[in-house]
Amino acid sequence: MTTVIVALGGSLLRPEIEERHTWLEGLVSMIRERVSMNDRIGIVVGGGAPAREGIELARPLISDEAHLDKIGIAATRLNATIVRESLSNSGIPVSGTIPKSIDEAVLLLEERQVVVMGGTNPGHTTDAVAIRFAVASDAKKCIIATNVPGVFDEDPKHNPKAQSHDFLTHHQLLDIIGSSEHSKAGDSQIVDPIGAREALESGMILNILDGRKTELIKEAIIGGDFKGTEVGVVSS
Ligand code: UTP
Repeated sequence: MTTVIVALGGSLLRPEIEERHTWLEGLVSMIRERVSMNDRIGIVVGGGAPAREGIELARPLISDEAHLDKIGIAATRLNATIVRESLSNSGIPVSGTIPKSIDEAVLLLEERQVVVMGGTNPGHTTDAVAIRFAVASDAKKCIIATNVPGVFDEDPKHNPKAQSHDFLTHHQLLDIIGSSEHSKAGDSQIVDPIGAREALESGMILNILDGRKTELIKEAIIGGDFKGTEVGVVSS
């Protein structure tokens, strides 16, 4: 029995992604297959478009970033509800509620094979929630499923020749993503630096991959070739 936590970037659910219904169906059938193999899976869903839109709408009126973060958290919980209901509807043993804290999520994952949640408190993103959930539930790894194929030396959207990394140590990842401060609600990086720092402290393995292809999430769960970036400790 393997326990893994998957951070699903909210961008994966957004309208710009072509065939997003097919993507959601693919996610549901992949989770169903892993559940039949006795895996235990925590899914932490990001806020994507509704988070960005809501924060942008309220920003001129609200100066406190923590209050803007709360709008982002509400969007993550909306997206988590979409994923939870889709899994539940297809008979997957998923927890009946969306936990609001890591402690609650860990307890629910002891009762059900699948737990879906969004954000928790202001001050970080759902990547950090997923990494904390992974550490607290003694998971084998934390998968960061995003809309790029891995960690690049430069932003591939700006430089098409940017090189991706197959492997990075936690320190190398932190060198690439920089500061560990959550300065602005809605700000996005390949991995939340707050989560990356906690992954370093706990030695939690991260698999960063292209979540638009649900089979790559499965590959990461089963320890196969997920074609992204593994962040871990160099084996001697
Ligand atoms: P996301 O986790 O969606 O951030 O949270 P993201 O990096 O934009 O991820 P994608 O694009 O969905 O993959 C959206 C915002 O919600 C607030 C933060 O403001 C974050 O930027 N948030 C989220 C929190 O304050 N706490 C949380 O636990 C989660």
